[in-house]
Amino acid sequence: MIILGIETSCDDTGIALIEINKNDCRILSNIVSSQIKIHAPYGGIVPNLASRAHLKNIKPCLTKALQQAKHPKIDLIAVTIGPGLIPSLLVGANFANALAYNWQKPIIGINHIEGHIFANWLLPVGEISNSQFPIFKPKFPILCLVASGGHTQLILMKAYGKYKLLGETRDDAAGEAFDKVAKLLGLGYPGGPIISQISKNGNPMAFDLPRPMLNSNNFDFSFSGLKTAVLYEIKSRHGLLNTPLPRKGCSSQCCALPQQYIHDMAASFQQAAIDVLISKTIKAAKEYKVKTLLFSGGVAANQELRRQMTKIVKKELPKTKFHIPSPKLCTDNAAMIAAAAYYKKRPSSKQNWSKIRTNANLKII
Ligand code: KG4
Ligand code: ZN
Repeated sequence: MIILGIETSCDDTGIALIEINKNDCRILSNIVSSQIKIHAPYGGIVPNLASRAHLKNIKPCLTKALQQAKHPKIDLIAVTIGPGLIPSLLVGANFANALAYNWQKPIIGINHIEGHIFANWLLPVGEISNSQFPIFKPKFPILCLVASGGHTQLILMKAYGKYKLLGETRDDAAGEAFDKVAKLLGLGYPGGPIISQISKNGNPMAFDLPRPMLNSNNFDFSFSGLKTAVLYEIKSRHGLLNTPLPRKGCSSQCCALPQQYIHDMAASFQQAAIDVLISKTIKAAKEYKVKTLLFSGGVAANQELRRQMTKIVKKELPKTKFHIPSPKLCTDNAAMIAAAAYYKKRPSSKQNWSKIRTNANLKII
């Protein structure tokens, strides 16, 4: 069957077409229009600007996706309905509803987190190509770590559609912490890819940063304290512990920080985040005796985290199969939404477009 995926939960407009059956899958097209240039001056996503950009970009993305896929006959439309920013979600949901009504196709609403998990089903493509690959058939129970700009969750998947939330962040998401620390260091937005890049030139042991909740008796995370520890370290360097930053006349909190300091701080922060994410995941995988471990979301694109996680899983969980999607499929895209839709109970009616409802706080369970 051919599924059209639509993703607009945050700041990426995504439209994809996948051809999928119980044995094989093929990504026919996977268009992502990024809004980084729009939000970068603000150091974070501005919801109203995001929805305006989705409105402008969604039709050209569809045209491109259909052209690249050579206008196949679509069987199902899948659209993200939450969690996410309501102004952004509404653009995708309304657009998908209009297409479903106009084309008389069935439509299905997909949870964005579930989409991230199902990016793993598109795993065999290193780079996105138009070739067919055997469908992923993982053994249950599966543990999924989803770490993105909006979420950090450990989810136990007992079967298709059967989820249990084991733990999640109590404050900032992991990606959000990367973005905020990058802002403190004056590195720009989004912080994850920049920190990942410059950490290669830094010493991860240069600063003794905290590993929040590392030894807590649960599977929750906390990243806000880690970010604050970076802030206080920068302040103490400036001798400004009791002064709010930024200083007068300085637009950023990184004023006069030497380049090596920035690289060392980025690497130390990254290592602290990696340590917590890996340690909690391994602990949960052991406790629930999982057969498969999956990792996805924007933070899973981090090369150092991928490398360390792969090494530790091999050592600590030799019998567990471990998968991470290719970096392009870790960050927001619509192919993952289409893949998740294949495993959902499909709507019986073609006229269910009126039933699609967005929910900013949609839960996976
Ligand atoms: O999954 P995603 O594209 O969107 C959300 O659902 O939030 O994730 C975006 C987040 C951002 O916070 C970004 O800084 C982070 O993922 N990110 C990374 C990397 N690439 C993106 N974090 C660490 N290392 C990376 N290479
Ligand atoms: Zn996401």
